[in-house]
Amino acid sequence: MIQIRNLWKKFGSRRVLCGVDLDIEEGETITIIGGSGTGKSVTLKHMVGLMAPDQGTILVDGVDIAAVHHEEELFKIQNKFGFLFQGAALFDSLTVGENVAFGLKNLRPGVSERAAMNVAKEKLALVGLHEVEHMKPSELSGGMRKRVGLARAIAHDPKYIVYDEPTTGLDPITSDVINELIVELRRKLGVTSVAVTHDMVSAYKISTRIAMLYEGKIIALGTPAEIQNTSNPYVKQFVTGSSHGPIKIKLRESD
Ligand SMILES: Nc1ncnc2c1ncn2[C@@H]1O[C@H](COP(=O)(O)OP(=O)(O)OP(=O)(O)O)[C@@H](O)[C@H]1O
Ligand SMILES: [Mg+2]
Repeated sequence: MIQIRNLWKKFGSRRVLCGVDLDIEEGETITIIGGSGTGKSVTLKHMVGLMAPDQGTILVDGVDIAAVHHEEELFKIQNKFGFLFQGAALFDSLTVGENVAFGLKNLRPGVSERAAMNVAKEKLALVGLHEVEHMKPSELSGGMRKRVGLARAIAHDPKYIVYDEPTTGLDPITSDVINELIVELRRKLGVTSVAVTHDMVSAYKISTRIAMLYEGKIIALGTPAEIQNTSNPYVKQFVTGSSHGPIKIKLRESD
């Protein structure tokens, strides 16, 4: 399991995370919701060791990833994760198949080119993409690119999958295809996941629990039904998407 304890992070004088606590139990999909710029992506990056905290611990199966400085040990922990980046982050110069195989070859040194490409094809099929491995990412639609990103995230059969905005920018039907895939990965493969989204339809569908990040802290945590029926005015405003309520949107940094 993953245990985040008292996580603090600032950039310059801007405090982003001010004591985040969150436990992710095995087999669940936790979704972190919250406004733009509240630190959702930053939280995910700490979980996979791409960012180091100012203070706090992130225990992955009992090992504090923030305290691991030995490259080999960090690599071992990062190997447990698949990461679907916000915006998919594919290499435009590589084919779709090469993109999916790339991570696998990095994480499983010694795997042959051919074996990696076979896994790539298998994972692409799993996300509903067939006969696309020779195409370039620029030839694909946004939804297809997300699916390629997902195939790449799961190529090495990770124990944990981290999804940053898996459905943002997709039409409702394509979003639902991605949502179903996320649910299927949990149900069929027992994968433990953490997702970040502003898409409440997706959050309600994929999550076992939902956590809301606001002003650097987790201010609410509950099942989708609990979050949907919350009486917390901050959570209520966010999940109903209202501009009226206690959350004020800053239009300028000085506001
Ligand atoms: N590497 C960095 N250097 C400096 N500031 C950063 C860095 N990464 C993030 N930030 C700042 O931290 C804050 C939180 O960013 P983050 O990307 O986590 O937001 P988010 O909640 O994911 O927002 P969105 O929903 O728009 O993706 C922002 O103010 C951002 O500018
Ligand atoms: Mg983000």
